[in-house]
Amino acid sequence: MDFLELARTRYSVRAYKPDPVEEDKLQQVLEAARLAPSASNRQPFQLIVIPTADRQDDLRRIYDRGWFVQAPLVLCICAIPEQAWRRMDGKSYADVDIAIAMDHLILAATSLGLGTCWIADFDPEAARQVLALPENMEPIAFTPLGYAADQPQSKGRKPLSELVEFE
Ligand SMILES: Cc1cc2nc3c(=O)[nH]c(=O)nc-3n(C[C@H](O)[C@H](O)[C@H](O)COP(=O)(O)O)c2cc1C
Repeated sequence: MDFLELARTRYSVRAYKPDPVEEDKLQQVLEAARLAPSASNRQPFQLIVIPTADRQDDLRRIYDRGWFVQAPLVLCICAIPEQAWRRMDGKSYADVDIAIAMDHLILAATSLGLGTCWIADFDPEAARQVLALPENMEPIAFTPLGYAADQPQSKGRKPLSELVEFE
């Protein structure tokens, strides 16, 4: 798949088969996140791989959707704010670094035939409790990881003419 085809193929999967994710595919997806660039190469994040088997009730406290716990795995990416690079005015780039790592991971998953869905609308306090996160880690996003049981919808993106200005 060339890059544009990969970008077109990825979509937010909101129904999953129970089929397991092969260990080598999981490792490739995690490696893609590891290779992501980050400001000053600080890599201020931690990934948590959560098998969903027997964890459905706990996980639904974090994000209460049936499809969230259908896939065999859920991944969480957390910021470690104290490790993040800051600009001269103090602005932290942790969220930017994490978005890049997460996007690497998600596109790698797509290239391997796996489905994902960015999830930011979760309960952060429940995430802290269920995952027993230490104080210095902040949960930023989740995604299920598994095989899609739904179909992509049309992308519904703004036209380039609205998004780009040529000077
Ligand atoms: C940062 C971010 C947070 C998101 N959070 C959620 C979420 O909490 N729940 C959800 O169902 N989708 C979530 N999405 C998915 C978006 O709704 C989706 O990417 C968008 O509608 C475009 O659809 P597509 O991913 O199928 O191309 C999120 C996407 C991003 C990038």
